[in-house]
Amino acid sequence: MNGHSAVVGHNPASDTDAPLIYFSSVSENTHKFVRKLGGRMARIPVFTHEETLLARQPFVLVLPTYGGVSGKGAVPRQVVKFLNVEENRTLIRGVIGAGNTNFGETYCLAADVVAAKCSVPVLYRFELMGTSEDVDRVSKGLEKFWTQQWQNQK
Ligand SMILES: Cc1cc2nc3c(=O)[nH]c(=O)nc-3n(C[C@H](O)[C@H](O)[C@H](O)COP(=O)(O)O)c2cc1C
Repeated sequence: MNGHSAVVGHNPASDTDAPLIYFSSVSENTHKFVRKLGGRMARIPVFTHEETLLARQPFVLVLPTYGGVSGKGAVPRQVVKFLNVEENRTLIRGVIGAGNTNFGETYCLAADVVAAKCSVPVLYRFELMGTSEDVDRVSKGLEKFWTQQWQNQK
């Protein structure tokens, strides 16, 4: 993804111009969902100690919630690390939340937390790896969203 060869003990920072950046843990639900969307995408490293991504173009962030019932620490640490990079906060344009409705009030809470902190909208919420209807809605929604963003820039 970054064009660098792996060096033991050192992970070079990965610059990305992908319009979709996502986090997915080892359970990979979110990974399976975004793969169905197609297009260019970049994954935030699974392990917090790994060097995070550096966004070079505006992007939408897809992230699952890991908050348990209290909602504390809902945003995965790997995503916090990614958003601690100022350039990444500057280029984020919207958030898509993944979660599980069994968690009740904290359903997709991480998306709301990031959206509020970065002053961007929550564009969509889906459960686990999403349905084919979710994939369809998100594909069409993102296309429309980027067209609007592009028009607003003119
Ligand atoms: C420990 C744990 C805590 C979770 N907490 C929440 C939660 O508070 N709200 C929610 O909507 N989903 C919660 N989930 C569900 C995950 O967001 C969901 O399984 C998601 O699809 C995981 O994505 P991933 O497999 O790409 O990492 C939790 C899952 C786990 C394992």
